[in-house]
Amino acid sequence: MPTLATTVDGLKLPNPFVIGSGPPGTNLNVIAKAFQEGWGAVIAKTVSLDASKVINVTPRYGKLHSTDGKEVIGWENIELISDRPFKIWEEEFRKCKDMFPDRILIASIMEEYSKDRWVELVQRSEACGVDGFELNFSCPHGLPERKMGAAMGQDPEILEEVCGWVKGATNLPVWAKMTPNITHIEDPSRAALLGGATGLSAINTIRSVIGVNLETLRPEPSVEGYTTPGGYSSRAVKPIALRMVMECAQLIRIEFPGRSLSAIGGVENGRDAAEFILLGADTVQVCTGVMKFGYEMVKPMCEELLAFMAKHKFETLADFKGKSLDYFTTHADLVKRQAERKAAQKAAAASKMVKSDGEWSGSDFVKQSNELAR
Ligand SMILES: Cc1cc2nc3c(=O)[nH]c(=O)nc-3n(C[C@H](O)[C@H](O)[C@H](O)COP(=O)(O)O)c2cc1C
Repeated sequence: MPTLATTVDGLKLPNPFVIGSGPPGTNLNVIAKAFQEGWGAVIAKTVSLDASKVINVTPRYGKLHSTDGKEVIGWENIELISDRPFKIWEEEFRKCKDMFPDRILIASIMEEYSKDRWVELVQRSEACGVDGFELNFSCPHGLPERKMGAAMGQDPEILEEVCGWVKGATNLPVWAKMTPNITHIEDPSRAALLGGATGLSAINTIRSVIGVNLETLRPEPSVEGYTTPGGYSSRAVKPIALRMVMECAQLIRIEFPGRSLSAIGGVENGRDAAEFILLGADTVQVCTGVMKFGYEMVKPMCEELLAFMAKHKFETLADFKGKSLDYFTTHADLVKRQAERKAAQKAAAASKMVKSDGEWSGSDFVKQSNELAR
């Protein structure tokens, strides 16, 4: 009987399904619901020391539907990090660990470029009993004037320094959450791992404009008639997330063996999760999926992943983690492999030509004659 239980950076999870930072982990009520439904771990909504600077707008989401309008395939948000005071979060982290002592609660944190602020945030969260940290280096909108989020995650030097500050302040696991809004995700990822991050999370949302309203001619989501580019998520981003997770996994495999990888981006079912694990992920996060389908979706996800494992006779997640990574190569190598296969086929066909009169057959007579013609 296969098992979904897994241990990542010393954290024991009943299954690899993790609530990704965002609305599904935005207060104790919803975090408790996630644990009750059976999620393997929860990464809470990103917190900072001073929530008074965080001012959200409405509407702050925009959806892209399939042509028949029945399915949401893409989702843009211009939501900021948590606007709830950190003091309240401290109470809720404590209560949550009292209610669910054996479950994994990870604090997602973000601060300005100040060692004291990062260290204070880490130490105060750790004092509340959280099990680990995810560093949000990747929110694509809002707060760039404070050099927070993606503004930090796009600068490998700062990233390495901040990871070093955090690792110097805690012995708990620290995952650096990477932005996809960069040409080579390996560069900031390498910096984060060099700085001491225990693992990587990838990807955050992709900078986007969800659409333009053809009646009002205003771009969406429209706030007082104006908008700002936001972060794209949901099903539509899965292929990009798969590519970037693969690149992070190759980096870890070659340069940082043993570091962990948490995959995010468009996951909605157990088969999606299997794909990310085959590309090297230890855990799989879901954010928009929970907003579309509810916390209950974890049960069918577990069943689908177990069914995939049973079909391939995998007993544990480790049995297939990274198994598909070996099949990536360069385009030049694809051309070489195809030329070799065609040459081998030609040689095989040539070896089937009539070489002596005893090989002529009644049924293939015309074909054999043609093959011998110039
Ligand atoms: C409405 C919304 C709010 C989000 N807020 C945060 C956040 O506070 N911190 C963070 O690290 N990521 C945040 N994210 C990004 C998600 O955690 C995730 O990286 C991204 O949405 C891709 O995964 P998905 O397709 O499963 O949503 C947010 C995403 C959405 C849709």
